[in-house]
Amino acid sequence: MTPMALTQRQPIDRIRDVLHQVSNVSLWPFIARQLARPQGIFGRLFMGRLLDRANAADNRLVYDTLKPDADARVLEIGFGGGSLLFEIARRLESGRIDGIDISPEMLAAADKKMLGMGLSDSIGLHLGGVDALPFTDASFDCACSVHTVYFWPDLQRGISELARVIKPGGRLVLGFSSVEAIAENGLTDRGFKAFSAEQIEAAYLAHGFEPDRLNTIERKGAGKICAYRGIRSL
Ligand SMILES: C[S@@+](CC[C@H](N)C(=O)[O-])C[C@H]1O[C@@H](n2cnc3c(N)ncnc32)[C@H](O)[C@@H]1O
Repeated sequence: MTPMALTQRQPIDRIRDVLHQVSNVSLWPFIARQLARPQGIFGRLFMGRLLDRANAADNRLVYDTLKPDADARVLEIGFGGGSLLFEIARRLESGRIDGIDISPEMLAAADKKMLGMGLSDSIGLHLGGVDALPFTDASFDCACSVHTVYFWPDLQRGISELARVIKPGGRLVLGFSSVEAIAENGLTDRGFKAFSAEQIEAAYLAHGFEPDRLNTIERKGAGKICAYRGIRSL
């Protein structure tokens, strides 16, 4: 969920307003923690649906920028509610997608949805973080991640792990809000690390990705969303 999306009338706003009236305390720290790592009953019951709904356009932008082949092996970091993961899985023919997330609640919810959709043959779900990916070198044709870089322990370490597991010539697409959108919502103060497209580009270059394409959208109330594609050097 982009920070600015929270200022639109999303379902999460209504929940926030009700809880605020009841408790009379600011829920921003709580919501910021849930965005970084959905957890507890709130995370389990609400966060997946809220993230999928709020970030639908951003997930579409990343999908269109990644464009995995029908037989590709794909990785998604921080799948949250799983809408992008399931969309990719539905479009794959002989390919397969693995998703990894640090939240046990998101993993359990995605596992249930995957079984319900009958997609378990083409999806692998994993609990873990981008900084220590449980995959062998050059396992994937492409990888993506949407609205997670703010929470990575270390951007350089994450991108170097992705460089390790993506095949030479493979694609990486990171989707993220602009620095301005993060700052305007005061989320930098809540532990979100914002990165400009130039900083992502420098990290790509430092870890063997050739910057290839930067697609952006302006989402009303959410500011600028970027999808930056890099190609793993041969
Ligand atoms: C704001 S949500 C975004 C979810 C989804 N990608 C979307 O755009 O709707 C961030 C997700 O990234 C996960 N996450 C945070 N830090 C992570 C890390 N270091 N490695 C993997 N996943 C992480 C969280 O648990 C959460 O599910």
